[in-house]
Amino acid sequence: MAPTHSRIPTITLTLLTLSTGSLGQTSVTNEFTDPATGIVLQRFFGARTNYGFGIALSTSPSNSFIGQLSFPLNDGAGWGGWSLTGDMEGPLLMAAWSDGTSVVSSFRQAENEDDNPPEVVGDFSVRPIAAGTSVNATFLTFTFLCEGCLGAALGLDGTAATAEMGWALSDKAVGDPGSSAGVLEFHNVGFGEFQADLALARRPEFEDWAARAGAPVAAAAGATAFDAALVESGEDSGDEDEGDEDDDDD
Ligand code: HEM
Ligand SMILES: *[C@@H]1O[C@H](CO)[C@@H](O)[C@H](O)[C@H]1NC(C)=O
Repeated sequence: MAPTHSRIPTITLTLLTLSTGSLGQTSVTNEFTDPATGIVLQRFFGARTNYGFGIALSTSPSNSFIGQLSFPLNDGAGWGGWSLTGDMEGPLLMAAWSDGTSVVSSFRQAENEDDNPPEVVGDFSVRPIAAGTSVNATFLTFTFLCEGCLGAALGLDGTAATAEMGWALSDKAVGDPGSSAGVLEFHNVGFGEFQADLALARRPEFEDWAARAGAPVAAAAGATAFDAALVESGEDSGDEDEGDEDDDDD
């Protein structure tokens, strides 16, 4: 390379190093015992946003997990969600919000980052765990058994020791919040990815905890079938190396 250009790689390398040390640093999950249920989760928690998502798995092969979403509401408004991968487009997503009295949850699948991701149905279901579910004007906690929610065709096969997952949080009102097809706007409070420790999430008490789940929640009329063809193959298929604007929120 010509001497006049020799500084360019140095500068690029410095920027990459800075980026890795700040924005690119992936948050991890930590052990969290839910005080309401005693369920022990591996939980990602954002100290800036107070968004939390925890996961517990079976020690036996299973395509189900117990999840817990918890996040602040803005005078009742807002929604929080998780993604089975660090991406928004493709994998199984879930969003939850308040209808003023109860928690509404909804499976979603995004084909783009411009529109409200439509509600989807498939061989998966959500069964709320009532003792770990509460909502008021300022905070929502939703604990659930996500049955049939793991599998490569959905974005996460669940057998790995760790997996990249995604989170999103909005404090704007959901359109038509009484319906699971409610309209979501951009996650203005934050979004990003985290590394879920699936090995540590496996707990011998899983089946006992799962037995506390209630009936499956039905989707709204008009929900479309989850399309496995939209799921990128490979667990680390995200665009985390493009310097995107994920919040570093651990
Ligand atoms: C359950 C609902 C949702 C979840 C779990 C979710 C999750 C995520 C995640 C993890 C990312 C970062 C990875 C990526 O770029 O693919 C992302 C990016 C993005 N999402 Fe969502 N999202 C949801 C709903 C929405 C909605 C309703 C909108 C807008 C109508 C939206 C717009 C966007 C945009 C524009 C980006 C890219 C932002 C950027 O790179 O600066 N998302 N989402
Ligand atoms: C709302 O719920 C949260 C979490 O349980 C609690 O900390 C807060 O005190 C509650 N707010 C009111 C007004 O009851």
